[in-house]
Amino acid sequence: MPTVLAIETSCDETAVAIVNNREIKSSIISSQIPVHRQYGGVVPEVASRSHLETINYTISQAFEESGLSWEQIDGVAATSAPGLVGALLVGLTAAKTLAMLHEKPFLGVHHLEGHIYATYLSEPSLNPPFLSLLVSGGHTSFIHVRECGNYETLGGTRDDAAGEAFDKVARLLKLGYPGGPIIDQIAKEGNPLAFALPEGRVSLPNNAGFHRYDASFSGLKTAVLRLVQNIEAEGREVPVRDVAASFQHTVARALTKRTIACALDYGLNTIAIGGGVAANSGLRSHLSVACAENNLRVLFPPLKYCTDNAAMIGCAASEHLALGHTSPLTLGVHSRLALTQVMSLYQN
Ligand code: KG4
Ligand code: ZN
Repeated sequence: MPTVLAIETSCDETAVAIVNNREIKSSIISSQIPVHRQYGGVVPEVASRSHLETINYTISQAFEESGLSWEQIDGVAATSAPGLVGALLVGLTAAKTLAMLHEKPFLGVHHLEGHIYATYLSEPSLNPPFLSLLVSGGHTSFIHVRECGNYETLGGTRDDAAGEAFDKVARLLKLGYPGGPIIDQIAKEGNPLAFALPEGRVSLPNNAGFHRYDASFSGLKTAVLRLVQNIEAEGREVPVRDVAASFQHTVARALTKRTIACALDYGLNTIAIGGGVAANSGLRSHLSVACAENNLRVLFPPLKYCTDNAAMIGCAASEHLALGHTSPLTLGVHSRLALTQVMSLYQN
């Protein structure tokens, strides 16, 4: 299998890795979270500038950690979609330049395909078909993984992504950024049944363009806002721990229900979780219990593979390259691109 140098700059991590198939030779992640924390969220222009400042150093670090040299690299890959356009351009331009300079094949990688491939890094023996649940700051997707480059999106979110909902609720509870880990922490000391919150049911039939298993989190976020406003209007102190625990419980229940329904309806016995929200202890326990009840296998890769990294991009690129897929040097970046369009990134 080919060894690939991979770059990921779609959001707020400057990441570079060297990967051979499902084996990581090196993986460097330079996080921008401390930079964005002062603004309460990711600022796209700040992210692009920060990638520019860090990218060259991160590439040399990846080579140093792997002990490999350019002669041992078979291809150069970068995330080309979806993501922040300015941020993606930094990684994609670096990858194309290096590919030209060293006369190696170039590959653009779909960020969500990368998240799917992250599972292989901790479960190298796993093979499709399986169900992938991707829950991060930017995405909530239920994906039927058929084979490399062949995916069916069974569901998503109509509005906010799961992580986005955590971050917004944390902001309205004045807990800081990123909100997911903080809510997870304080929810442990709260009562998940203290407040009944709406799960965000969506009317299913005859709704063109939507999927049967879609979730919706904006109604839940508004319900938390109203709850907090009502408590404050009564002059009472907001029981932040109970609100956080009830919110987390509701998100975990909504995601678990849909995941189990997808797996059973499509006859998929293995469920792989990815994205930053996969770290959530409420989601993990809900899913583990439900999977055990339904005789399904659930894989929770270590968090370092769930959150954004370049090793997952390299893992996907290595398999595409082995199949003879390469991208033209004219490939651009896209802020949005459906997972079903993955093969449009390749010319052969
Ligand atoms: O995958 P990721 O690092 O970046 C992308 O968005 O692609 O995910 C970040 C998201 C943030 O919204 C963060 O609040 C959320 O994952 N997150 C969590 C937890 N850890 C991170 N959400 C809930 N519980 C957690 N323990
Ligand atoms: Zn991501």
